[in-house]
Amino acid sequence: MMFEDLPSSTSLFLFGTTVALLVLHVLHFRVDTKGNRREPPGPKPLPLLGNLLQVDLKRLDASLFDLAKKYGPVFTVYLGPKKVVVLAGYKTVKTALVNYAEEFGDREVMPVFYDFNKGHGILFTNGDIWKEMRRFALSTLRDFGMGRRTSEEAIIEECHHLVEEFEQHKGEAFNNRRTVSYASSNVISALMFGKRFDYKDPEIHSLLERDTESIRLTGSASILIYNAFPWLGPCLKNWRALMKNVEDSVAETKRIIADLKETLNPDMCRCFIDVFLSRKQRLEESGIKDSHFHDDNLLYSVANLFAAGSDTIAISLHWSLLLMAKYPLIQDKVHEELRRVVGSRQIRVTDRKDLPYTDAVIHETQRLANIVPMAIPHKTSRDVTFQGCFIEKGTTVFPLLTSVLYDESRWESPHTFNPSHFLDKEGRFVKRDAFMPFSAGRRVCLGESLARMELFLFFTSLLQHFRFTPPPGVTEDELSLTPFVGFTLSPLPHELCAVSRQ
Ligand code: HEM
Repeated sequence: MMFEDLPSSTSLFLFGTTVALLVLHVLHFRVDTKGNRREPPGPKPLPLLGNLLQVDLKRLDASLFDLAKKYGPVFTVYLGPKKVVVLAGYKTVKTALVNYAEEFGDREVMPVFYDFNKGHGILFTNGDIWKEMRRFALSTLRDFGMGRRTSEEAIIEECHHLVEEFEQHKGEAFNNRRTVSYASSNVISALMFGKRFDYKDPEIHSLLERDTESIRLTGSASILIYNAFPWLGPCLKNWRALMKNVEDSVAETKRIIADLKETLNPDMCRCFIDVFLSRKQRLEESGIKDSHFHDDNLLYSVANLFAAGSDTIAISLHWSLLLMAKYPLIQDKVHEELRRVVGSRQIRVTDRKDLPYTDAVIHETQRLANIVPMAIPHKTSRDVTFQGCFIEKGTTVFPLLTSVLYDESRWESPHTFNPSHFLDKEGRFVKRDAFMPFSAGRRVCLGESLARMELFLFFTSLLQHFRFTPPPGVTEDELSLTPFVGFTLSPLPHELCAVSRQ
């Protein structure tokens, strides 16, 4: 049980707080149901625990998807005393995030997210700080070529390192998780820090291990409990481990920033950090004191981009190779198309339009893998009446991406790996509205264009060079697609063989 590490000395304190919360909860619930406003329906909550006993915290997104079948596309659940409105199904999620972008566009800063960033950066901020940091990040990353040719060159360079690294295993089974992480984090490092790390560099190992572990811990049941009852934090082993990770990552990022500061030349910016530091310097020189361009916003914006931009790509690639090993006929078709259209030369982004089957496989991988199943929690920025339901300002909202990517009214076979979802009868690639792994609206993934480019170039380069198979003695059927649940959904640890095509 998640309270197992609770010392007994806290029991009196716990009892007192429980009673206080119980009273607060009952009062809160009365206020909610007063008046004639129809609030989103939902399962009846228990005092204090809310609906915690009716959902599976180990697979919250799937549980909420099941509840949507009973309560409809806009419903309420209580995770402990915390009220959450869940949006489910393509139509509802898209309409809320796009047509009511303002109302549903704030970020819910849950206690653990506040612990991460203390109100700074991009991911877990709102208002002017968020606006300015997001705008700055987007324009700076674009200046450094995000989604354009410059980042294409950086990714292609990384593809060569990745292929070399895979070759070293000489077709023997290995877990490719770390290697693909090094490759994806090097792309974001080049943009953030102006350098790539050698795959054997201990600095990148520790940065990545901590990020991966933090993402896993953030999705753990005890951190979900912590978000509902933050006063429990110091008693929870996972929370303590998470805070230690955050502290260490902050210290490491500060070191990297300090090194760049020493050699800063505002006329020759090497990376995101240089551009930020130069902007900060200019503002200080012109006497502007209350700008958002200060050290904390730099530190946490960099940490956000690094965390959001490396593991997501690595997990997606890890899924894509697993799916290729599991479905060898699909893998063969991808390879055949690559051989026919591109041959053995380096693949470029401009080849994508001539590779409809490969493009469909990459999209279908992202759909089925569903790596960020509940997006990142949102919050209503004002009172809103949506699809006949009244939702109060400040309510936590989960846009359930699982219910979009697996929407039975939108996908012909939502639960199977079926690249035809993205192909017409003539085999041409077709876009699908319900393909929303990057979410939508004001908070849509900031790195979408970079992510799409990376996934395409890494995946195709690997498939050009290798055939992926299960380890000897393991059949394709035995390769499991059950996800490992953290804040993201990743494949369970597994090994594959990368057999050279040369
Ligand atoms: C396959 C790769 C990726 C997927 C599936 C993905 C998905 C997402 C999703 C679902 C969100 C939450 C949107 C919401 O709250 O509604 C998000 C936010 C975000 N992503 Fe990504 N992402 C990926 C790659 C990246 C990359 C490469 C970067 C960095 C360059 C990045 C940076 C961010 C940032 C900064 C946010 C927060 C945006 C905000 O709060 O305004 N992501 N991403």
